[in-house]
Amino acid sequence: MKTLKNIFLGLSLIFAGILLAAFTLPQDKKIGGPWEIPAKYKTMKNTYKDDASLMKVGKMLYTKHCKSCHGSKGEGNGPKAKSMKTEIRSLKMAEVQAQSDGILYYQSFIGRDEMPNYEKKIGDDEDRWAIINYLRTLK
Ligand code: HEC
Repeated sequence: MKTLKNIFLGLSLIFAGILLAAFTLPQDKKIGGPWEIPAKYKTMKNTYKDDASLMKVGKMLYTKHCKSCHGSKGEGNGPKAKSMKTEIRSLKMAEVQAQSDGILYYQSFIGRDEMPNYEKKIGDDEDRWAIINYLRTLK
């Protein structure tokens, strides 16, 4: 009986170890947490709001610059997302979409850490708002 008890105890320990590993190992992605957005961006006005003529260019620029990480539908599952240390939230999430255009603008073009800065690569203001307008269609 004693050996049976010991075997049972041993097996329980192994099982607990496997469970612990399963829960701790895949969690190598860090959650970015809340963004600190400077006041001037929070209230920034989208001068191209509802400009339907920009939709095509917005989609084109998103495909060129953003899709590799954010995925074709903004779900955070582009081919490069796997190699990121930071979790990429789906841009379709209500929490992301609830942010003002200016906040999305800051996140998209100023960025932080693994979210690259695009101030140089996407210099034109019309192009930038075209992308933000496109992000709004990813719901
Ligand atoms: C190299 C990969 C990569 C590329 C390319 C990239 N992003 Fe990101 N993006 C990230 C990561 C990683 C985060 C999360 C950063 C954090 O939370 O610190 C992020 C976060 C964001 C957020 C904030 C979403 C939220 O959680 O509120 C927006 C908006 C965003 N990106 C827009 C864009 C746009 C627009 C482009 C193209 C112009 C782009 N990104 C290109 C990696 C990328």
